[in-house]
Amino acid sequence: MNTAARGASVPVIAVDGPSGVGKGMVTRWLAQRLGWHRLDSGALYRILALAADRAGIGPERPDAVAALAPGLAIEFRGHSEADEAVLVDGRDVTAALRQERTGGLASRIAAAPAVRAALLQRQRDFRRPPGLVADGRDMGTVVFPDAVLKLFLDADAEARARRRWLQLREKDVDASLIDLCADVRARDERDRSRTAAPLVPATDAVVVDTTSMSAAEVLQTVERLLGSAGL
Ligand code: C5P
Repeated sequence: MNTAARGASVPVIAVDGPSGVGKGMVTRWLAQRLGWHRLDSGALYRILALAADRAGIGPERPDAVAALAPGLAIEFRGHSEADEAVLVDGRDVTAALRQERTGGLASRIAAAPAVRAALLQRQRDFRRPPGLVADGRDMGTVVFPDAVLKLFLDADAEARARRRWLQLREKDVDASLIDLCADVRARDERDRSRTAAPLVPATDAVVVDTTSMSAAEVLQTVERLLGSAGL
């Protein structure tokens, strides 16, 4: 059996949606609840964006950015938000990855088909027994179209910016709600309007609008959907 055929028998849950909608919380919860692996695909785009930035290669040179991907030795450590760390070529880049600037650069390079192609197999390699919970924008549409359950989380931009603002305030980081809201809208616009793997729900995805839901209510809804999918 080849690798692709073997991988296909391992179940995947795809969780897609825009920035700041709570995919991280949901996918961490699912991975822990089921004892499955987790893929944070956005981290791969951020890692590549950071590597390109450090090499002085801008988003306007997507082929040169894509060419960096195969050479990056990436290691994810930890399981909860508190103990997670990302090492690239042995160097801890966790803090740099979380910066808003890195997110913005990632969304620029992610619009290029060459960059998306360079990261495709790398994402599929995370599919290992007993299962995978995949967090991203195109998990259900492009990377794992045969996922057993596809969730698309959505919430209006202002609600997402406000959640981010509250998270930053908890960490004593000063941020302007107006700036955060503008960033969220700009990133949404880029992610939804690009031609390569735009942010859209798969036709067989369950769309959950979390705008006026608490975190606990979101998880209750996800738990119900797990049950209906027989998981
Ligand atoms: O999810 P996160 O905010 O870390 O992703 C950073 C950027 O990477 C997103 O704004 C999006 O443009 C891009 N991305 C993507 N496809 C994915 C995951 C992330 O295009 N599957």
